[in-house]
Amino acid sequence: MHMRDSFGSKIGLVLATAGSAVGLGNVWRFPFMTGQHGGAAFIIIYIFFIILLGIPGMVSEFIVGRHAASNAARAYDRLSRGKPWKYVGVLGIVSSTIILGFYSVVAGWCVQYLYASVEGEILGDAQYVQNYFQVFSSSIARPVAFGIGFIFLTHLVIVRGVRKGIERFSKMMMPTLFLLLLIIVVASCMLPGAVDGIAFLFMPDFSKVDGHVLLAALGQAFFSLSLGTACLCTYASYFKRDTNLVHSAAQIALIDTLIAVLAGLMIFPAAFSVGINPDSGPSLIFITLPNVFQKAFASMPLVGYVMSILFYALLALAALTSTISMHEIGTAFFHEELKSPRRVSAWFVTIIASVICVVSSLSVGAVPELSLFGMPMMDCFDRLTAQLLLPLGGFLTCIYIGWYASRQEVYMEFTNDHKVNRAFFKTYIFFVKFVCPTLIIFIFLDQLGLL
Ligand code: PHE
Repeated sequence: MHMRDSFGSKIGLVLATAGSAVGLGNVWRFPFMTGQHGGAAFIIIYIFFIILLGIPGMVSEFIVGRHAASNAARAYDRLSRGKPWKYVGVLGIVSSTIILGFYSVVAGWCVQYLYASVEGEILGDAQYVQNYFQVFSSSIARPVAFGIGFIFLTHLVIVRGVRKGIERFSKMMMPTLFLLLLIIVVASCMLPGAVDGIAFLFMPDFSKVDGHVLLAALGQAFFSLSLGTACLCTYASYFKRDTNLVHSAAQIALIDTLIAVLAGLMIFPAAFSVGINPDSGPSLIFITLPNVFQKAFASMPLVGYVMSILFYALLALAALTSTISMHEIGTAFFHEELKSPRRVSAWFVTIIASVICVVSSLSVGAVPELSLFGMPMMDCFDRLTAQLLLPLGGFLTCIYIGWYASRQEVYMEFTNDHKVNRAFFKTYIFFVKFVCPTLIIFIFLDQLGLL
């Protein structure tokens, strides 16, 4: 029989799964969301969702994936046969491929900015940097080429397989990423006036919190943990029988949250120190930040130059560990369901994601007509996945585990055949049965104005 690939070591699986979770969601999306939604209050709500929904949700996806040891679509069939649950897996595969498409646009920008930092091209006043971004992002060929190039780079890791590709690269990239982050955080927090940025991050002002902020925090929690996309389920299918699922979920959620908060500590102190308002939205790290580095280190231009290079290298690395996981979901699916070789399956995903990447890239640049509901397609894809499909995927997974799956089999997975975490099982089931689904429904009803 064909032997399925698996992660080789505990540290390897934690770093690979944390690599999926830690990405542009932490260093690009989290800071601009926090900036737009009032700082610390948003973060508190976000952490609340990570604990209440994120950890039980992760454990649930792990259970489904490891139990089945197969791609996501088949995995959802295994714990309750014959019912249409496999479409939850399919939904996750669709979501992650859409995300791969638009995410690669931003990842491509990061690589372009890395190159521009090395060349010293993004040095100039605020107007210059803004123009630079506009000229670059509205040209046709370059952003598209960088986006597709990024998907192809991901493809090259994926075709090497789980242990030799995903695990090996994650083990190298994750520690590097952490080190880069720490260097920039220290530099940023030592700037004069940095305390205002730190206060913005840690002193909550709940007056800005409304239903919209709740949904944004919920979407961010799902997006950041890669939850509801079948990513965790697919990775868990490569876990070993003795992997402690609850510990792993808690560890990964902790690493992910820590890195998001550190990303805030990297960006806000520097932004406040030069008097730049952090609520500029998705372009925060491309328009605001280059200037921040320059102004903040005006008396030490070389430090500013190096910081800028490190920063964009960090972003590109973080993006890569995540795109690898998004790509793997579809690749595993095509490989196992269509029985096509892994190499060929990876091409299917690369091509579909590249089409989404082209549409997204053009929609925020050269072809603004590519819009829906008054939003560029790129924003539509982002909203559709983070604020609808992922919470829906997470909701259905909880319902599946809590109400339909065989309780005995779920128990055996949760406790590694009676060996660990037995005391938490009842609480876990209570959460996935009642707490998590209710919370998600409330937030949706609230958003629809029905509460
Ligand atoms: N969690 C990743 C991040 O924070 C994004 C991601 C979403 C990865 C969905 C895989 C699946 O950037």
